[in-house]
Amino acid sequence: MSSIDQHYNFSAGPAILPQSVLATAQSEMFDYNGSGFSIMTMSHRSDAFMHILFQAEQDLRKLLNIPTNYKILFMQGGASAQFNMVVMNLANGFKRVDSVVSGNWSRIAHSQMGKLSDADIHLAAHGGELYNFTDVPAVENWDVDPHSAFVHYCINETVHGLQYRDIPKPDGLPPIVCDMSSEILSRKINVADYGLIYAGAQKNIGPSGATIVIVREDLLDRCSERIPDIWNYQSHINRQGMYNTPATYPIYISGLVFRWLLAQGGVEQMQAINSLKAEKLYAAIDGSDGFYANKVKPHARSQMNVIFHTVSKELDNQFVLEANAYGLRMLKGYKTMGGMRASIYNAMPLQGVEALVHFMKDFQRRYG
Ligand SMILES: Cc1ncc(COP(=O)(O)O)c(C=O)c1O
Repeated sequence: MSSIDQHYNFSAGPAILPQSVLATAQSEMFDYNGSGFSIMTMSHRSDAFMHILFQAEQDLRKLLNIPTNYKILFMQGGASAQFNMVVMNLANGFKRVDSVVSGNWSRIAHSQMGKLSDADIHLAAHGGELYNFTDVPAVENWDVDPHSAFVHYCINETVHGLQYRDIPKPDGLPPIVCDMSSEILSRKINVADYGLIYAGAQKNIGPSGATIVIVREDLLDRCSERIPDIWNYQSHINRQGMYNTPATYPIYISGLVFRWLLAQGGVEQMQAINSLKAEKLYAAIDGSDGFYANKVKPHARSQMNVIFHTVSKELDNQFVLEANAYGLRMLKGYKTMGGMRASIYNAMPLQGVEALVHFMKDFQRRYG
């Protein structure tokens, strides 16, 4: 097969960005808005950057329909820093935090959350023990105390290709803290169902370096003054996100992505396209007579990170090699999982998925 003209990037993160966003960034690289400077070299307190930050926040509010009693922060330290920050800030004075392990990232979160806290990090459910990470523990089976500080879970597990397609409702639960790193803005959510949402930008938003935190105002009363300001949500909010130098360039690019999303028709429109993309890809896997396989229960299959493998490791390697030469890049599975992983975030066009499906069929014809 000769290679395709347009290459597609299926990386799980840092991941694909819309071409038009990159083109705008390129055109503004040396001279942002007639200022004569790159935004990368401007003070975070300059009018230009303050406006970018303000606009990014407004646009995110619009895209996710974020109620006014929620604050937005663009933090640093990745989603990993939030594993501890949520406990430091929101578990003060509480004896218990509930934690659901549904895959690699919530398992890491679970292992980290107790490190700077005396609270008991209670395992509410473990999808590895229950289903070998081929399904997500249903909310009905979470062992949760409504009086604990919060319950933490990950809505889309990037490594195991698992997603809570049925979004857990907050009824009877303590405040929900949710890791949305690899699916934020991919489908409609009800922000009011959450106490706090966090997401590293580098999958469905922008480049690495910025982490979005959306937190319900009343929970901020729990942020003790004993928490060093740099890890204290309240101190960042008191200084309008300028407690220290924020990740200006990643925020600028994230802002361009928000604009792009609004121009596409917002989250609702993305959700429709994302469903179609995932459907096509899973149909190609399921329709391959076992040549390709995905062990995840259909109701928990991620619409963002589609994992699959062929009949052997050797053939998986061959697939990745040939797909790469064809123009379908970064399809190698996570190091502990092997096989392939196609991350099909918002910025992946339908044509990218169609090109992958076409390649899969051709590969099967040749090696099946
Ligand atoms: C769902 C999820 N949570 C957390 C992380 C960790 O993110 P970071 O590298 O930004 O700390 C990742 C990274 O891939 C992820 O996919």
